[in-house]
Amino acid sequence: MAGRVIAIDGPAASGKSSVSRGVAAALGWFFVSSGHFYRAIAWGTVRDQISSNSPDSLIAWIATRKLTLLEDEDPTKGVSLLLDGENASPHLSDSQVATTVSVIAAMPAVRDFINARLRALSENHDLVMEGRDIGSVVFPLTPWKFYLDASPEVRARRRASEGAIDTVSERDRLDSTRATAPLTVPPGAIVIDTTHLTLDQVIQTALEHLHLPELTTG
Ligand code: C5P
Repeated sequence: MAGRVIAIDGPAASGKSSVSRGVAAALGWFFVSSGHFYRAIAWGTVRDQISSNSPDSLIAWIATRKLTLLEDEDPTKGVSLLLDGENASPHLSDSQVATTVSVIAAMPAVRDFINARLRALSENHDLVMEGRDIGSVVFPLTPWKFYLDASPEVRARRRASEGAIDTVSERDRLDSTRATAPLTVPPGAIVIDTTHLTLDQVIQTALEHLHLPELTTG
């Protein structure tokens, strides 16, 4: 890990993406949604009709996948993902992706495939990366870790207001109970309950904890 990494973990619709983008914009760092990587792979299994109930065929399939990253000129906008040369971005919120993603994310072969690519990004970027296991597994040594949470009612409302049909509570259940890299508060993480906070308040709270040279004024 040559670049610096701010890890932002938490359950679905806890505000991670918006907060991570805001923190990345304030610092001029690179924004990465690790969930997009899992969604791109989930979309690939739907596209190629690979059954998520058959770990053996999924392992053979993923071994020959080509996941290419396209960096936006604005680093705070993050990366687009091409799977075998095909842009996955338009498909990441598909309902079939939402129902498959937590199933395939429980498989160690999928996590290894994605973790190698997430870690490679830190070789030449300062990153704000959001996910479920960024502070616990992907970058456990980073000194900057946050865990965002919000009440289930507020999270369901936020997701519905985005117009997304999502199985938030079922994904949370699968993400928290899986054997490999379950959703958990990473040791040393600062926990922020976003239930009664505005987006700006959460971003400011996170920035206040960072003590980075980019943020010192005068
Ligand atoms: O963040 P997002 O809701 O897009 O993530 C979609 C799914 O990807 C999660 O519900 C989880 O199953 C999986 N995921 C994961 N580990 C991460 C990021 C996402 O298992 N670091």
